[in-house]
Amino acid sequence: MKDELIKTTLTHSKKEIPNSSQLEFGRCFTDHMFIMDYIDGKGWHDPRIVPYQPISLDPAAMIFHYGQTVFEGLKAYKTKDEKVLLFRPNKNMERLNLSNERLCIPKIDEEFVLDALKQLIRLDQEWIPTIEGTSLYIRPFIISTEPYLGVAASKSYRLMIILSPVGSYYKEGIHPVKIFVEREFVRAVAGGTGKAKTAGNYAASLKAQELSEKLGYSQVLWLDGVEKKYIEEVGSMNIFFKINGKVITPALNGSILEGVTRNSVIQLLKHWGIPVSERKISIDEIYESHRNGLVEEIFGTGTAAVISPVGELNWEGEKMVINNGQTGLLSKKLYNTITNIQNGEEPDPFDWTVEVK
Ligand SMILES: Cc1ncc(COP(=O)(O)O)c(C=O)c1O
Repeated sequence: MKDELIKTTLTHSKKEIPNSSQLEFGRCFTDHMFIMDYIDGKGWHDPRIVPYQPISLDPAAMIFHYGQTVFEGLKAYKTKDEKVLLFRPNKNMERLNLSNERLCIPKIDEEFVLDALKQLIRLDQEWIPTIEGTSLYIRPFIISTEPYLGVAASKSYRLMIILSPVGSYYKEGIHPVKIFVEREFVRAVAGGTGKAKTAGNYAASLKAQELSEKLGYSQVLWLDGVEKKYIEEVGSMNIFFKINGKVITPALNGSILEGVTRNSVIQLLKHWGIPVSERKISIDEIYESHRNGLVEEIFGTGTAAVISPVGELNWEGEKMVINNGQTGLLSKKLYNTITNIQNGEEPDPFDWTVEVK
């Protein structure tokens, strides 16, 4: 596998590249995609880059029935001097294999898939938008393909990588969001699949997300699935609290996704000498601290928005306005530092960026 050559078939009909200022998230895709297949006994094989196209699957393919699938999400950025940078892509490859392990999907060769990803980006690099805040979103994913209606791990799989130019998350500059603390529904429990990046977790989150949007909130804050007391994470972000000068984020407990941005924020805070701890935090503790005037900032972290300041929480009807609904200084500093490193505009003391040459 390691030395298998990636066969490339170029498209005959290049698509029109959309205007960078009109990009949405995840709606348009580049000219090519990467595919690789797996069959028990043979392993991962036939890596190839082909024109972006629909795929054909047997209606009995196990992905449709039992949801055995995993995915990743990362971004490529074009610097002012036309270099293409990836942000900590090895973390995403590592996490893909952690998810594979949980979902009984055969592991991938992380180095090989990262190399394939770079080849694909090189081929479609004219699609990387350049205006501020834009990037090329990269979606590697694996689906189970065996046609079989029995509940078991599939004997065949397909890995694909698709690319999507995406617009700036903050069209009018970084601004705080309103978050609804979910009491009825849960996303994941320890021992379940919460720490894996798998479709079922997101399907399970839709109901609460829809209801919170109707109430005017942009995302849900999940509490633990057993006592509904301890804070876990937001829909597609990890969460941080700055209380009385110290930063706290929920400890990884098996039901929280370990975000690459979360890990980067923790490293940066330590580097800056700001106290940061990973521990169990109850929603009661946050409200209590707020009543005592100690909650300074709350922010989410994730690939899409990088840093998303929280301006308001609503827990059982009790609204908590944070920092007068304004973006806090620490949120802003983290956002600027991480995005500048991603775009090659600031030194990268941790060697986080990887150039696609
Ligand atoms: C459930 C969930 N939590 C957290 C995150 C943040 O992870 P990352 O920083 O790797 O994007 C994501 C996004 O991938 C997510 O889907």
